Amino acid sequence: MRRKMAAGNWKMNGTAEALGEVDTLLAAHPAPSCDVLICPPATLLHRLSDRLQGSAVRAGGQDCHAAETGAHTGDVSAAMLKDAGATHVILGHSERRSDHGEADDTVRAKAEAAIGADLVAIVCVGETEAQRDAGETLGVISAQLKGSIPDGATGETLVVAYEPVWAIGTGRTPTLDQIAEVHDAIRAELSERFGAETADAVRLLYGGSVKPANAEEIFGVSNVDGALVGGASLKADDFGGIIAALDAS
Ligand code: PGA
Repeated sequence: MRRKMAAGNWKMNGTAEALGEVDTLLAAHPAPSCDVLICPPATLLHRLSDRLQGSAVRAGGQDCHAAETGAHTGDVSAAMLKDAGATHVILGHSERRSDHGEADDTVRAKAEAAIGADLVAIVCVGETEAQRDAGETLGVISAQLKGSIPDGATGETLVVAYEPVWAIGTGRTPTLDQIAEVHDAIRAELSERFGAETADAVRLLYGGSVKPANAEEIFGVSNVDGALVGGASLKADDFGGIIAALDAS
């Protein structure tokens, strides 16, 4: 059985004050039966992981560099995330792909570095609206998976997040059938490459405008093992509602 997972991506939001939301969340959900992860800005990672000591919630990064150390001003390595208390790192988020021109081979190199540093790599894939309208969704996702996921990935080292670009931060979500179609295709693609046993162990998260009001129905979809949550992860009540929906699913 795959353990369900609710991952919050705070993006470029939050200063020390935001840690109060985490205290509220921990008080309301002291023992979730799913894995809960919060990925704050890098500046908060260490403070957050200190705050989470003794709790069931884990902290993660939002990106890392592929190199271990070196002359890369402004970048953070996987080992640095680990040192700051991270257990996971989000890689290849569509905002990284578009804002920073990250291609699949870059994401793959980062995922290799992350796994090498003992972090779980949460690799994001997703089509644009134009690609969906052109009927290219499954081809785009397949190419992203092939290009972004390193050889040797396992259910312990890899989580895949399907995030349609047009659903991120827009309040729009695909139909449940559309989510099922992509998640089933991702599972099949992983099975073809890594074998059924490994593919069955990899958690597949849906991301894009998940909120308490739509979480229950999304978590009922085939091959959806949880969510990667942006906006709704910033407020303890909203993220807590999503965790509760996942626990009940
Ligand atoms: P959203 O973002 O939940 O605000 O749509 C999801 C994400 O980008 O991970």
